[in-house]
Amino acid sequence: MNNFPKSVSLVEVGPRDGLQNEKTEVSTQTKVELVNLLADAGHRRIETGSFVSPKWVPQMADSGEVFSLISRREGVSYSALTPNTKGLENALSANADEVAIFGAASESFSQKNINCSIEESLERFAPVVEQAAARGKPVRGYVSCVLGCPYEGEIAPEAVANVAKIMLDMGCYEVSLGDTIGTGTPFKTQRMLEVVTDVVPVSKIGAHFHDTYGQALANLYVALSAGVSVIDSAVAGLGGCPYAKGASGNVATEDVLYMLDGMGISTGVDMTRLLKASSFIMEAVGRKPSSKVANALMESC
Ligand code: HMG
Ligand code: MG
Repeated sequence: MNNFPKSVSLVEVGPRDGLQNEKTEVSTQTKVELVNLLADAGHRRIETGSFVSPKWVPQMADSGEVFSLISRREGVSYSALTPNTKGLENALSANADEVAIFGAASESFSQKNINCSIEESLERFAPVVEQAAARGKPVRGYVSCVLGCPYEGEIAPEAVANVAKIMLDMGCYEVSLGDTIGTGTPFKTQRMLEVVTDVVPVSKIGAHFHDTYGQALANLYVALSAGVSVIDSAVAGLGGCPYAKGASGNVATEDVLYMLDGMGISTGVDMTRLLKASSFIMEAVGRKPSSKVANALMESC
């Protein structure tokens, strides 16, 4: 396992995964400004919102407005989560550049998060992928709980591989593997990736690791060494899933960027500009970033 990529495509999920779990309402204008600052920093893939039930995730209820107010930059893909065809219709009306379906490798998490079994979810996703393709929109797939579930504990890597393969066969161009509760450790990550890459090309895998137990960078190092070249992260380490109790933020973009810059792996994202986005959003939510790198660099400024 020493297939480090020369460049990594960063998927900035702060405006969606990051903000969806914020307890206090974040204004539409703040979300818009955050997305614009992230594009200024050089991000080319920004998960901008989520077309889910506002009863389930109230913070994302204004995603349509966010999409209508952002300053779209050439070459930037602004994406959204779509759990069903209703979500897809709303994402299409908002002119999202791409959409994402999201399933799980754990039955219990699937029920808690999207109110159906894994099998039902895949049946529900098929028309989303088909209709998105008919409208020329690429579809990403997410598999949650790839290294552990808040309700079931251990998850078999084979269960991850199975859902990932079905999503790709369905027409997703990439599948993002989510350590939703951040319980993974490096050897476990390695084993999971070995099993998944037996059935799915590594070029189609993204790593979506939450940093709840401080393991995300170590796990990402393992993923990189296996040849994974797509990493999801959230500015300032914002985030968590409302249906995964105790799950804290995504790995911070600043921490990932510092590691990749240090390893000579290019991303196209500029740290100084990224820190502007970080300061902006943390001031808006009234906290310090959970990113060690952001705190260290902000203090040294
Ligand atoms: P349900 O209650 O089973 O849905 O929810 P339903 O089809 O029975 O409809 C119930 C009501 O919801 C109806 O409205 C529908 O119109 C409405 P009513 O008639 O009662 O007024 N509805 C919708 N409204 C807006 N947009 C929609 C939509 N669909 C139905 N798309 C559903 C099923 C999937 C909708 C719900 O469970 C849901 O919205 N879940 C989303 C939960 C969520 O967003 N979780 C966080 C994102 S996943 C995550 O963070 C993990 C990830 O980051 C990877 C990782 O870390 O592992 C991706
Ligand atoms: Mg997540």
